[in-house]
Amino acid sequence: MAGAGKRVYIKTFGCQMNEHDSEQMLALLTSHGYHGATCPEEADVILVNTCAVREKPEQKAYSIMGRLHQLKRDNPRAIVGITGCVAEQRGEGLWDHMSSLDFVLGPGKIHRLPEVLHAVDTGGDGVCATGFEDGPFVHLPLPRGCRVRASVTIMQGCNNFCSYCIVPAVRGRERSRPSKDVLAEIKSLVEQGTKEILLLGQNVNAYAKHDPAELTFPQLLAKINAIPGIERIRFTTSHPKDLTEETIRSFGHLKRLCEHCHLPFQAGSNAVLERMNRRHTREDYLALVQRLREVVPHLSITADVMVGFPGESEADFSQTMELMQVVEFDALFSFKYSPRAGTRAAQWPDDIAPAAKQRRLESLQVLQREITLKKNRRLAGEIKEVLVEGYSRHVPDQIMGRTRCNRIVNFAGGPDIMGKVVQVRITEGLQNSLRGELC
Ligand code: 5AD
Ligand code: SF4
Repeated sequence: MAGAGKRVYIKTFGCQMNEHDSEQMLALLTSHGYHGATCPEEADVILVNTCAVREKPEQKAYSIMGRLHQLKRDNPRAIVGITGCVAEQRGEGLWDHMSSLDFVLGPGKIHRLPEVLHAVDTGGDGVCATGFEDGPFVHLPLPRGCRVRASVTIMQGCNNFCSYCIVPAVRGRERSRPSKDVLAEIKSLVEQGTKEILLLGQNVNAYAKHDPAELTFPQLLAKINAIPGIERIRFTTSHPKDLTEETIRSFGHLKRLCEHCHLPFQAGSNAVLERMNRRHTREDYLALVQRLREVVPHLSITADVMVGFPGESEADFSQTMELMQVVEFDALFSFKYSPRAGTRAAQWPDDIAPAAKQRRLESLQVLQREITLKKNRRLAGEIKEVLVEGYSRHVPDQIMGRTRCNRIVNFAGGPDIMGKVVQVRITEGLQNSLRGELC
């Protein structure tokens, strides 16, 4: 086998989609004889799976490339490749950052990784594979071994063109994976012992939107819910404009579907939402939240939000803070806007001063910390269903699991309950987790 005895190290930046791609690349290379390495120094092949969605992760990718250039001087036989969204966006331009780079591979070409490595191995210089191929949805072998939670891609790409977002440019147009393949993969994972499935896509609610012969997203959820042995189903990410009434109702009647919806709102002001090309208003968003809570009152709602978008006034920002107070999110992922070359918003002046962006981000995070803590504290005394994932990374001698609403719970317990669903009495709500005791 091409990779027999060789070791591969993958450094991943960015989102769950990227983590999933890294898992698939590792599984693909393992099927060609490669083994995982624990650090770049001991690897024969080093992959940096990059993220271009904001400036910060992109800069981190360049800084690691600097270190790898040094590493290649000490070990010229090591092969270094850049994959992911920065690979797609910058392509051959990446050799300006790292002249000793061996290859660049975009997210639409990861199935060609073994071929590309072979080309590099046999003397090919500077291979650059980017772009998206027409035709069937490309899916790769399953990683081996049982995992309590596993992600399954149901769609790739995005058609929404939010004006700040680089994703449609680097991940291509929406492509939905055939439901029979999705269901077969989930059945196989559940047979191997997986309890929780996370359905992945940039905009999962638009699943097979233009294919009348395919299941709709809520129909797909219902089929997954009926797979024997499955404990939990989650999905991410939802776009407010595509979250249908039928999907909202699924939270009420599908027993396996967890009571958690990640629903980015990005901004609280209609003027900003309009310039962001979000195609929903603040009122649309609040109506969805109300409907979700009518169906499941304790549903956990999390979101993404941005501060400092071009032209965002203090009054616009206050509307974001106000929306947060009305909704009381269970958790919030908040970012400072950074222009991404090639997007519509990058043509407009990035006119909010860095200090103002920072101040807005901090006020928003202070408010959210208060809300999160208040909501976590309120859970003390309740009994929650917890799926046990493993030992706690932060609290010694404790095990860790998650509630259906996706809150982390630490509690005392033995190895016999690993991977199982147990009942836990919550004893204390903290800022980032809960404490509990096994019932
Ligand atoms: N600047 C800052 N944040 C961004 N996001 C996407 N593009 C940008 C950008 N140019 C945020 C959005 C999105 C999350 C994944 O990243 O909030 O939902
Ligand atoms: Fe980007 Fe908007 Fe698509 Fe999300 S929905 S990936 S923010 S373009």
